[in-house]
Amino acid sequence: MHLFGKPEEDEDNKKKQALTNTLGIDLGTLNTVVAKPSGDKFDLFKIPSVVAVKKEEPSYVLAVGEDAKAMLGRTPEDIVAVRPLRMGVIESIAQAKALLVYAMEQGSADSMENMDRIVIGIPGDASEVEKKAVEEIGEEAGANFVLVISEGLAAAIGAGLPIADASGTMVIDLGAGSSDIVVISLGGITDIETIRQGGDNIDDNIIAKVKEEFKVEIGMHEAEKAKIDVGMVHSKTEMKPTVTHAIGKSMETNKPQKVEIDSNLVADAAEPIILELIEALSQVLKRMSPELISGVYNRTIVVGGTSQLKGLKERIFEEVGVPVEISDDPMTVVAKGAAIVAAEPRALEPEVRLKAMK
Ligand SMILES: Nc1ncnc2c1ncn2[C@@H]1O[C@H](COP(=O)(O)OP(=O)(O)OP(=O)(O)O)[C@@H](O)[C@H]1O
Ligand SMILES: [Mg+2]
Repeated sequence: MHLFGKPEEDEDNKKKQALTNTLGIDLGTLNTVVAKPSGDKFDLFKIPSVVAVKKEEPSYVLAVGEDAKAMLGRTPEDIVAVRPLRMGVIESIAQAKALLVYAMEQGSADSMENMDRIVIGIPGDASEVEKKAVEEIGEEAGANFVLVISEGLAAAIGAGLPIADASGTMVIDLGAGSSDIVVISLGGITDIETIRQGGDNIDDNIIAKVKEEFKVEIGMHEAEKAKIDVGMVHSKTEMKPTVTHAIGKSMETNKPQKVEIDSNLVADAAEPIILELIEALSQVLKRMSPELISGVYNRTIVVGGTSQLKGLKERIFEEVGVPVEISDDPMTVVAKGAAIVAAEPRALEPEVRLKAMK
């Protein structure tokens, strides 16, 4: 029996150990996704970004993820289910920490004490204070080293775009609470534009439109479901509208009432957000050097749950002349990119890499 290995062997084992205990986390407004590298694939865990807390003591967390989500709208009076992130920003440190600890537990088969390095994607325009807060939460949650990177950069890496090229690539991330446009060249971010609006706002607008048109109040979940069922954005390309139904409460009789929601209603509800996106894209293109424009023309990818709205690709091309590819993996690509960086910080530009290796 060997109680002590050779020192070099110990070193080697340590290094291997370190590389196996890494995680990538996309701390989203609606969904938190954890990716754990496993060979050349990833084990993925998706957790609703919801925690249940005591109403009188909002830092007292009772449940996280699916369990908390199940309590939404059905909790006893002294318990509330809330989202720790709003528009991609941390609303409550204690709640965000509970979410992150839970996410790390999901992703770590072994003890959390061995968690060597986690990389967390957050919105590109997050302030230094926000970044620091996420870093601290990660460390308090038990990771030895935490690196916070822009979701856009993580998405580009996750999608396998050649981020180290000088020619430029662009990522458009349309989430629930925020939408990011990120231009990348030589492994770093050269330009970024963030709108603190996303799919959540489309849901809100659907609720308002249904109220106005049918005098019926529908819930958040019905609105989101309708959006996913028949979601579309306006474009010059002919798209056949489809129809779905939602049950709400009649404002006249207070009875349940079924309403018909079609793609055009959803497209109307999405229009203000789409217009903001087009405006932001125009600003980014206005600032872009001619050197980068051909790279971006050839390699722009759209990720995030909201990228799945029909007609989006066509609309973006009509408005700004950039052909885009809609990711076939829109909801997990950020976590995968973060996981790649966690396992191999060389995926990043030198300064960031140095920090990641420290
Ligand atoms: N098929 C679909 N069509 C349209 N929207 C969809 C579809 N599937 C999911 N969504 C929307 O995508 C959004 C969630 O996307 P995602 O998981 O990328 O957001 P997030 O990362 O949690 O948010 P953020 O990045 O803003 O913090 C929600 O608004 C959801 O309703
Ligand atoms: Mg996101």
